[in-house]
Amino acid sequence: MQTGDPVPSIWADDVSEVLIGSADIALRISQVAQALAHHYCSLNPLLLVVLKGSVMFAADLSRALPIPHELEFIRAKSYDGTQSTGTIHIQGLESLALSGRHVIVIEDIIDTGLTLRQLYNSLNKVGAASIKTCCLLEKDTARRGKDAPVVDHVLFRIPDKYVVGYGLDCDQRLRHLSFVGVYRQ
Ligand code: IMP
Ligand code: MG
Repeated sequence: MQTGDPVPSIWADDVSEVLIGSADIALRISQVAQALAHHYCSLNPLLLVVLKGSVMFAADLSRALPIPHELEFIRAKSYDGTQSTGTIHIQGLESLALSGRHVIVIEDIIDTGLTLRQLYNSLNKVGAASIKTCCLLEKDTARRGKDAPVVDHVLFRIPDKYVVGYGLDCDQRLRHLSFVGVYRQ
């Protein structure tokens, strides 16, 4: 599916617009994978996948990354429906051995930046050799905190709209879409 294609009629009640088609997602992933491969070629980086929203992105990025790397998973939750609750719950970090590792945080979207900031605060204590971030989407929003971390690799910058698909949900729905779409509120 291409960006701007009509929304398949079966999803038309939930999605108003195909914001990023699967073909564009695949293209950007292959570009970023090449850049990461160049930078991390002999470092065996650890892709630290923030579930659940990054699941599709991480699976595709990992398969496009032509160097040895490992995958680990943590869980972060902040949203209730389309609203950020302002409280971030991070699970699974304590059981990981990250000391000395080159960590690449794989996130679905940066909105207020609270999740990444809290994650950075926790990751700074684990003794990683380096910490970089790779985000599928960066929302253009005035809600971003001044102290939000700068994302190292952003695949797409999007307007301040609530989006679903390609891993992103609204109350657990619509993650399975192969494209990123604007949620019909
Ligand atoms: P932040 O902490 O406000 O930056 O938001 C980060 C998390 O909120 C993301 O990792 C998503 O899981 C979720 N989120 C933010 N905006 C959206 C959206 O438009 N659609 C779906 N999830 C979102
Ligand atoms: Mg997320």
